[in-house]
Amino acid sequence: MQLEARNLSFRYGKGPLIINNLNLELKSGEILGLSGPSGCGKTTLAKILSGYELPQGGSVKIDGKSIPSKGFNPVQLIFQHPEKAVNPRWQMKKTLNEGWSPDNELLDSLGIEKAWLKRWPNELSGGELQRFCVAKALSPKTRFLIADEITTMLDAITQAQIWNVVLNKARENNIGVLVVSHDQHLINRLCDRVFIGK
Ligand SMILES: Nc1ncnc2c1ncn2[C@@H]1O[C@H](COP(=O)(O)OP(=O)(O)OP(=O)(O)O)[C@@H](O)[C@H]1O
Ligand SMILES: [Mg+2]
Repeated sequence: MQLEARNLSFRYGKGPLIINNLNLELKSGEILGLSGPSGCGKTTLAKILSGYELPQGGSVKIDGKSIPSKGFNPVQLIFQHPEKAVNPRWQMKKTLNEGWSPDNELLDSLGIEKAWLKRWPNELSGGELQRFCVAKALSPKTRFLIADEITTMLDAITQAQIWNVVLNKARENNIGVLVVSHDQHLINRLCDRVFIGK
């Protein structure tokens, strides 16, 4: 399978073109890096690839077919800011089980403690919250994963732990992963190939 962005262009409102005629392919099982300076449009591209923003020009398809807008999204986005991705009025257990039910083994490997399931999002640190968002995104139905600066707020050891889990799952389920980061060392360490923004 291949996720294909063709001739993408995007601007917010009447603002400047942030994405101009961009082409990108991500194959199943491939770990692709996306790097570039702050503000160059990485998060914007991540949102377009996963259907959270519609481009003004071009298309995003899987094997030539449009991505279904209803039901489970095979292109899962893990947001740069996890607090923006969860419902503040839901306890973590509900958020976690919204799309699928991750097993205890996965929760343990991500360092998610049982006691956290009963907490509200504002009772967790950003890094703790992000682990829930990672677990949610690793459904057996996920075909492509767009990981937008997902470990920026974590210490080095936890960062390595989370990436280990994500890459193992990607290998197991043949998920194509886009690693969005301005951390060149992280990208060089994790990725088969790198796409550099402007
Ligand atoms: N909702 C919005 N409305 C208007 N402009 C926006 C909006 N979101 C982002 N922008 C602008 O679009 C540009 C690209 O933003 P984006 O968040 O995609 O950058 P980024 O590469 O992810 O940056 P960073 O590395 O800091 O996360 C920036 O100039 C930003 O100010
Ligand atoms: Mg960003």
